[in-house]
Amino acid sequence: MGTIEFDTANQIISMQGLHSSYVIQLYSHTLPLHLYWGPHQKLADTRQFSPSAEPGYSIKVKDRDTSYFIEEFGCEYGFAENGDYRVPAFGVRDSRGYPVTGPFELDVNIYRGKHKIPGLPSARTGSDEDIQTLELRMVDHPSGLLTVLSYTMFPEHDAVTRNVIFHNRGNAALRLEKAASVSMDMPNRDYELLYLHGAWARERQIIRRTLQPGTFSFGSTRGISSHQFSPSFALLEAETSEFRGDAYGYGLIYSGNFLAEIELNYGGNLRVNMGLNPDTFEWELEPGGSFYTPEAVMVYADDGLNGMSRRFHRFFQERIVPSRFAEMERPVLFNSWEASYFDFDESTLKELADTAVDLGIELFVLDDGWFEGRDSDRTSLGDWQADRRKLPGGLKSFGESLQHRGLKFGLWIEPEMISYASKLYHKHPDWILAIPDRPAAEGRNQLVLDLSRPDVCDFIIDTVNGLLNSAPISYVKWDMNRSLTNAAARHLSASRQREIYHRYVLGLYRVLDEITRLHPDVLFEGCAGGGGRFDPGILYYMPQYWTSDNTDAVSRVRIQYGTSLFFPPISMGAHVSAVPNHQTGRTTSLEMRGQVAMSGNLGYELDLSRLSADELDSVRDQVRFYKQYRSLIQFGRFLRLVSPFDSTDAAWMFIHPEIDDILVFWFRLYGEANRPVSGPRLVRLRLAELDPFDYYRERERRIEYTGSELMNTGLILSPSRLDYDSRLIILERIR
Ligand code: GLA
Repeated sequence: MGTIEFDTANQIISMQGLHSSYVIQLYSHTLPLHLYWGPHQKLADTRQFSPSAEPGYSIKVKDRDTSYFIEEFGCEYGFAENGDYRVPAFGVRDSRGYPVTGPFELDVNIYRGKHKIPGLPSARTGSDEDIQTLELRMVDHPSGLLTVLSYTMFPEHDAVTRNVIFHNRGNAALRLEKAASVSMDMPNRDYELLYLHGAWARERQIIRRTLQPGTFSFGSTRGISSHQFSPSFALLEAETSEFRGDAYGYGLIYSGNFLAEIELNYGGNLRVNMGLNPDTFEWELEPGGSFYTPEAVMVYADDGLNGMSRRFHRFFQERIVPSRFAEMERPVLFNSWEASYFDFDESTLKELADTAVDLGIELFVLDDGWFEGRDSDRTSLGDWQADRRKLPGGLKSFGESLQHRGLKFGLWIEPEMISYASKLYHKHPDWILAIPDRPAAEGRNQLVLDLSRPDVCDFIIDTVNGLLNSAPISYVKWDMNRSLTNAAARHLSASRQREIYHRYVLGLYRVLDEITRLHPDVLFEGCAGGGGRFDPGILYYMPQYWTSDNTDAVSRVRIQYGTSLFFPPISMGAHVSAVPNHQTGRTTSLEMRGQVAMSGNLGYELDLSRLSADELDSVRDQVRFYKQYRSLIQFGRFLRLVSPFDSTDAAWMFIHPEIDDILVFWFRLYGEANRPVSGPRLVRLRLAELDPFDYYRERERRIEYTGSELMNTGLILSPSRLDYDSRLIILERIR
């Protein structure tokens, strides 16, 4: 199947996905124009795309070409200083400080497969034969800058990945001031913007807003992708719902500072840029040097937000997550943090482990507090040796004691960090991120190691490798509990100071690449004060992520719902914790907490010794149930049904083409007496994506339905509580 075709006569390039097309026109052999992205289509003629009438008061760039009014065009990679006054995708200056503006000489290269991006995570092609890459190679002769816009079409996923490579082929250094990964101008169709915002313990809340003329932007300058905004968003039509309508999704495979810009200009063009955040970025490009931007992924769906999510979920599972974990069932885990915080010894841990085994739990994760002197968050980060007061036999003997019980051993570490009160700080005070002669700001009483330094990265690789070799560890929770500040790079020259944030991320990726290569079977779960760095870049190394420090069931429904727009449930760490909840003080039933947590990657994080016999029985049942349905939940299709951002209820379901059972989860977060909307007592929950002619039986009530009935009338539920109510309905397809 030819996925990318170049019609040289008309200078049109079409990239075809199963249900989508992406079309570029090369204008005047110098400017790549964005013609189209959307439902699959074939062009017969292209004359209609030639601009003819000159708009008033516009700048002509090429004197003799009166049709060249750049601001009126939809561009593929917008640049400034040439009559295009929209937010540019990139900015480069030559050694004299003059902007590099083109005109470019444009060349096309199409090849099968896809190149890796050095030093950065990027989508994997596996053995897929249908994957092709388009390169638009743009040469600026005066400066010697070669800019390569690279596009790979993944036809089965209706996904296009993009990145940009800057090569300095000239004789003098160039300075990159902005380098977006994706930029395109879409003809506006009254699109709405959907994006995710949040905070610690309130990650990925959905916002949907109309677009007005002007530029709207969001991003991160914290050194991590952040709790506040996610590097992913979607453009939607006003009528796009969970099940219907066009959705154009964008994601950046990057874990540091990013910026997304959406500009609606006077001419009805919508410019979309996403990439490195230029507020904290510059790069000196030596003669002969190359710079690679992170990769962005874009998916088009004609079947609403659920259609977009399905494509992102599959893409991340099949093309981003390490392939050995893509189809590996994830263990049910116990995590010691909210069970004992810093206050434990080997005997309390072993008691917890005994109970965990009895409950059917498979992996025991020893969280913070296990290393030398770590009795509070004020000390010891950097000193990664077991505290013999707490673990007299060290990690090896503790890990083996878990193995004897039939449990796997997981360990928490926070290798990017350092405490003032640590041996490491006394040995290497210059390893912290700090501006010379100024105090370094602490966050959670800790400092950040400067991962832009190769020697710091080597230390982390050696330390983590040593730990993993020293004990039978099969899982690592890799934490990162503060944002970056004082980002000066003492080992770099003045002209390179603004490179540090990106160099930090490159250092982190080198570390993760090396460690996961040395220990391919260890399962990594990412964490940054909960979900502060939950992004596709991290998933490339760590196939699951601690979604939020907030484990309250009500809060979690919203957090997991928002997260699921882009990320699959298997990637979302979700734990049952104690009540009153430690973050919100709210009390919800064990049943509801279990149902929320088993909608993701299930774990338990509470003091098991405080559970009553009845509660232990319930947990045992939950774990058994989850294991029975694990492949449906972890590898099935997740469909959002009712949004907690539009109502006080929420619902979702899991289906799988090869599994007869369907799981439906419904939650009532807050109630209203005599609610006028759904009637005083009853809820009608309409399901989706069933075969209308199939028959289904509800396991508990033994009621039978047709697929069409479930999708139209819906399931009729009668809530029993005003607040914090929940239902888990199992439907069996009748063969
Ligand atoms: C962060 C994590 C928690 C826990 C603590 C330990 O807050 O998000 O899950 O690991 O650190 O200090």
